[in-house]
Amino acid sequence: MTVRVRPFAVALAVVGLLPILPAAAAPQSYELPEPTAQLRPAPDHEVGLAAAEANCQSCHSVDYIAMQPPGKGADFWASEVTKMRKVYHAPVSEADGKAIADYLAAAY
Ligand code: HEC
Repeated sequence: MTVRVRPFAVALAVVGLLPILPAAAAPQSYELPEPTAQLRPAPDHEVGLAAAEANCQSCHSVDYIAMQPPGKGADFWASEVTKMRKVYHAPVSEADGKAIADYLAAAY
C-alpha cells in the first residue's frame, strides 16, 4: 500500500511551524561568572604549578581541583591526572602529568 502525502498539507505544516523559528534562532547572550578558584602555590613545585596552569584549566575551572576533599594523597592525584589524559584526552605529556600530580598532592 502506498501512502500519498499531499504537497499542500506539507506546505501547511511547514507554514504552521514558521512562527516558532525566529524565537529558536534568536541569539542568546549571558554573562559567565568569574572563576572562583585559582591554583594554590606550593613550595618547590613551581614546575608542576606552571604545567597545571597551562593544562588543567582549558576544559573546566580550577574548582574541579579545589573542591576535592583535602589530603587525598599522591595516588589519588596521579590517577586523576591519568584519567584526564587517557579518558578525556587532555593533551598533557606524561612528564608534565607527573609534575602536575606531584604538585597537586603537595598543594591539595
Ligand atoms: C580535555 C579536557 C580536560 C582537561 C584538559 C582536563 N580535564 Fe579534568 N575533567 C574533564 C572532564 C570531562 C571531567 C569530568 C566532568 C564531569 O564529570 O562533570 C573532569 C573532571 C575533573 C576533576 C573532578 C573529579 C573527576 O574525576 O571527575 C578533577 C579533579 C580534574 N578534572 C582535574 C584535572 C587536572 C588536574 C587537569 C590537568 C592535568 C585536568 N583536569 C585537565 C576534562 C578535562
